[in-house]
Amino acid sequence: MELNTRENYIFPEQLINVLICPKCKSADLRFAKDEAFCNNCGQHFPVVDGFFNFDWQPRSNSNLKDLVTNANEELHDSYADYYEKSDLNQVFTEESFLHTEKLLSESAKKYGKERLLDLGCGTGFIINVSQKHFDEIYGIDVSRKSLKLASKYNAHLVCGSVYSTPFSNDSFNVITANATLHHLYDFHAFFEEVYRILKPGGVLLIDHDPNAIFRRYFGWQKLLRRMMLRKKRKNIVNCDKEVAQYADYHQFKTSGIKPKKVKALLAKSGFKNVEVFYTFPLKPDQFTQILIGISRYIDSPSLRYLVGFIAQK
Ligand SMILES: C[S@@+](CC[C@H](N)C(=O)[O-])C[C@H]1O[C@@H](n2cnc3c(N)ncnc32)[C@H](O)[C@@H]1O
Ligand SMILES: [Zn+2]
Repeated sequence: MELNTRENYIFPEQLINVLICPKCKSADLRFAKDEAFCNNCGQHFPVVDGFFNFDWQPRSNSNLKDLVTNANEELHDSYADYYEKSDLNQVFTEESFLHTEKLLSESAKKYGKERLLDLGCGTGFIINVSQKHFDEIYGIDVSRKSLKLASKYNAHLVCGSVYSTPFSNDSFNVITANATLHHLYDFHAFFEEVYRILKPGGVLLIDHDPNAIFRRYFGWQKLLRRMMLRKKRKNIVNCDKEVAQYADYHQFKTSGIKPKKVKALLAKSGFKNVEVFYTFPLKPDQFTQILIGISRYIDSPSLRYLVGFIAQK
């Protein structure tokens, strides 16, 4: 049975209003009970596990960009439950949650509270914190297991890749990528896509990614952290070690996120007024207490474990 959902309420109107075909970018989509169909290019987007599956591009592990995305789908499907219960709460400080909420509430006031999109939304950390600050909240992720957990919050969720989203041009006031950037291989393709769907005058907030400047000086800390995470996750992550490392690409396979390089790439994609900020939001037991102590008093990028970016369109 085919239904025109603009007349028969099945999928939320708000979601349908911002969707386009991620393959050919046509807005001429037809919605049926169990799929969306592009009248222009003929692509089907089935509803799988309750979410539109806009993850339409075939991915091959012979290509590194695809391999990293596949690894993310596998890792996050395998450990969504654990991520939600332990990773967030055990690793980050209360102060860091407050910093995130402040960033979101101030952005809603400054850039508009109509629509927020969270890229790589996972189990819904940002969606949860955003609830009272935005009118409409959207999330996209390749991991359906994570989306399922995020669906307890009030948001429109779709399955898909951040490189090719099903959203119309100029749709969102605020777009967030929280601990997502370091899971991506192709920053340029990512930024071009974010720029397309962000409203002119809107903002992109990137936060909680490993800072390569810190690593240059405190690389030995990485080893320590890896050992701790591995030990903790050992019995929970039901996923090959290599897969887990490719998923957390810039944590394990590179020296981290290089602030200058990312800033330049954002500008190349058209973003303006790009700001870089550095944080150290981990609980003391996650790192040596001394380093965290020192970092509170000395404001240097080399003493901040994580990096974030604010970029306007
Ligand atoms: C470390 S988690 C962060 C989750 C969430 N943003 C948070 O703050 O808790 C990274 C997320 O990015 C998602 N992800 C990685 N690559 C992606 C891609 N190409 N498209 C969509 N989501 C992706 C993963 O599935 C995972 O849920
Ligand atoms: Zn199409």
